[in-house]
Amino acid sequence: MLFEQVATGGCQSYLVGCRETCAAAVIDAEASQVDRYLALAARDGLRIRYVIDTHTHADHFSASGQLARQAQAPVVMHRASTAPMVDMHVDDGDMVVVGKLRLQVLHTPGHTRDSMCLVVEDRVFTGDTLLIGGTGRTDLPTGDSGALYDSLWGKLLKLDPALLVYPAHDYHGRGHSTLGEELASNPRLQVKDRAEFIATMRNLNLGMPQHITEALRTNLSGGKTVAQMLAEAAAMVPFMSLAQLKERIEKGDPDLVVLDVRERDAYQGGHIPGAQLLPRGQLELRVNQDLPDPTRRIVTCCEFGRISTLAAATLRQMGFQRAVALDGGMQSWREMGYPTKAGAEP
Ligand SMILES: [Fe+2]
Repeated sequence: MLFEQVATGGCQSYLVGCRETCAAAVIDAEASQVDRYLALAARDGLRIRYVIDTHTHADHFSASGQLARQAQAPVVMHRASTAPMVDMHVDDGDMVVVGKLRLQVLHTPGHTRDSMCLVVEDRVFTGDTLLIGGTGRTDLPTGDSGALYDSLWGKLLKLDPALLVYPAHDYHGRGHSTLGEELASNPRLQVKDRAEFIATMRNLNLGMPQHITEALRTNLSGGKTVAQMLAEAAAMVPFMSLAQLKERIEKGDPDLVVLDVRERDAYQGGHIPGAQLLPRGQLELRVNQDLPDPTRRIVTCCEFGRISTLAAATLRQMGFQRAVALDGGMQSWREMGYPTKAGAEP
């Protein structure tokens, strides 16, 4: 078995491949690592056949939809998952066949209703059901600490104690452990019965994870994250440097239109001299009257350089083929000590 563990902060994801047949699966793909999974697979001559999520993540962004599209492979999740991008729902006892590898599905609800573990050869991918020295939390949507107790003691911990544990999270750089080690030393597993476990989980009082709303929205719906939309926009527009823009303004480039896409108040508080105001929210509605010449070189700017990227991408889609975004925003422009002008333009 070819095996790669890819860590992103505390998130752990995995590529497993069959040496003989060159088939592979990615488990719990993370949004910033899509190119890495594809590159690792290519390096080892593997074709990604399945993209598997062990559960609906609430605390980070799944890349499964995106990776699956690029690898032309189906997304696999437990049948309790409601995410629309799932192509293949699996159930307890099913096997996902990856070449000669057999990934055995164990439905282990508790952290979420759709949580599952995957056993393959000498190891088990435990998702957030069992972590090294911990368990997944049960206070997020569809979590249930009684169900987690049943999944752990009724299923997962009954397996061979020598099985290697590869979780979906590990914040201490330990990478893996074994079921036996967890049984012996994982503090959450040192309880005498179900009631004590439920009480322990109830008393954890964990803070809400960062990005929970956006993570649930995108992971449940297959929608895009804000970072993804920005990256997609940035990939289709060229940029102009702050220094280049300043030079062109000083030279009086007649071809140039600086388009400030912030709101009026921000614009009047200080803008690039000569910049035209067209707030992002009104772009599509006012573009025909405000930007009559689609052949001009338009440079969009905003406060931090993000909305201007979206605006430039929109302009390009509408036929302004020379639209570019300023590489940086007004904040950087001011920090450089470049000139600004307050109030309205004549
Ligand atoms: Fe999770």
